[in-house]
Amino acid sequence: SIDISTLTKQTGYTTLDQGFVNTASTKSEITYIDGDQGILRYRGYSIEDVAKNSTYLETAWLLIYGELPSASELEEFEEKIRRHTLLHEDLKRFFDALPHNAHPMSVLSSAVSALSTYYQDSLDVHDPEQVEISTIRLLAKLPTIAAYAHKKSLGQAFLYPDNSLSFVENFLKMNFGNMAEPYEVNPVLATALERLLILHEDHEQNASTSTVRLVGSTEANLFASVSAGINALYGPLHGGANEAVLTMLEQIKESGEGVEKFVQRVKNKEDGIRLMGFGHRVYKNFDPRARLVKESAHEVLAALGIKDELLDIAMELEAVALADDYFIERKLYPNVDFYTGVIYKAMGFPTRMFTVLFAIGRLPGWIAQWRESNSDPKTKIGRPQQLYIGEPQRDWPTER
Ligand code: ACO
Repeated sequence: SIDISTLTKQTGYTTLDQGFVNTASTKSEITYIDGDQGILRYRGYSIEDVAKNSTYLETAWLLIYGELPSASELEEFEEKIRRHTLLHEDLKRFFDALPHNAHPMSVLSSAVSALSTYYQDSLDVHDPEQVEISTIRLLAKLPTIAAYAHKKSLGQAFLYPDNSLSFVENFLKMNFGNMAEPYEVNPVLATALERLLILHEDHEQNASTSTVRLVGSTEANLFASVSAGINALYGPLHGGANEAVLTMLEQIKESGEGVEKFVQRVKNKEDGIRLMGFGHRVYKNFDPRARLVKESAHEVLAALGIKDELLDIAMELEAVALADDYFIERKLYPNVDFYTGVIYKAMGFPTRMFTVLFAIGRLPGWIAQWRESNSDPKTKIGRPQQLYIGEPQRDWPTER
């Protein structure tokens, strides 16, 4: 077999692959995707099986440690996470310094970055015990940070975590409960949220995960690497798409222009608009997660007795696009984010929280990928080449 790295060195070839369309940055045992057939597997298990049978934390264990946990391993893991859900009281005050209308993704990445200042032992990325405790702290504290970001935007008091509840139930309570009255978790919402989080847990070398691995390759600690991943997720072409989908659906509703006209404007590339929630770098047939999310959207809205015009617009958009040559030729299908926003809205989350929910979902994948990279002795600092196309050497002008 040919060792490409040696070949590149010997011949001096550099491959230009903008957007890394063909270049693998790593080997990985975590997630398998076949984009043509719409297959996604976590550690060999199909996403359909995982979504129907597992929980967020059990799936996190699977991704991070490679196997399904035994009942006692899972119990111990959940207990450890429950013990770390609180934020340091000083970190709580950190939120006071940020404007109330800050985007919660900015709040999230800043607060996660700040975790390194409280847990300075985490800087030793070669100490397995530190990696382990940083893993638990991140999984436990990210939902608390996210709920605080939400409460701050509403001007409401923060609620301490309630460790008598499950991971997802506690998260719902911290977001929607208040100090004045008891909070009752709606099981339909808890089940739907659990499923959505599972569907987002890992997706191999997407932009945010590649960012986490790249930053981690410099031996930056887990908090710093995940904070960078959150910022990569923020963009509307990645995690920010779920927010952008809802904004788009609302604009279509308010403008009254109708779906057909809007799709025509997308096809004309008017102002560079895209059909948000459509298309994927890897899936060129269908996104298996999108099917499961669509199922949940109908279940949640039916169970809550909500009739949402935005869901009708989304379904009409999907039908029109799937029958249109522009989308067929370019292999553009609904992705996981097309229907997630409709569900989050029905749950009561403001649009700006949608990408934060994606970040909580993706966290176990980021951790698993960072740990895989960190424990591989062959990992090198990520340092892409470039092709310089600027001016050749120039003499400094004598007169200016
Ligand atoms: N709407 C309209 N046209 C599109 C769309 C879209 N959503 N996506 C791609 N196209 C078109 C492009 O204009 C291009 O057309 P052209 O050949 O006439 O120039 C062609 O399809 C190929 O597009 P690329 O941008 O080269 O595809 P790429 O694989 O780089 O992009 C991406 C993938 C970023 C997801 C893109 O499809 C997109 O912008 N989608 C909308 C945003 C979105 O939903 N992102 C979420 C992704 S999933 C996730 O992060 C969980």
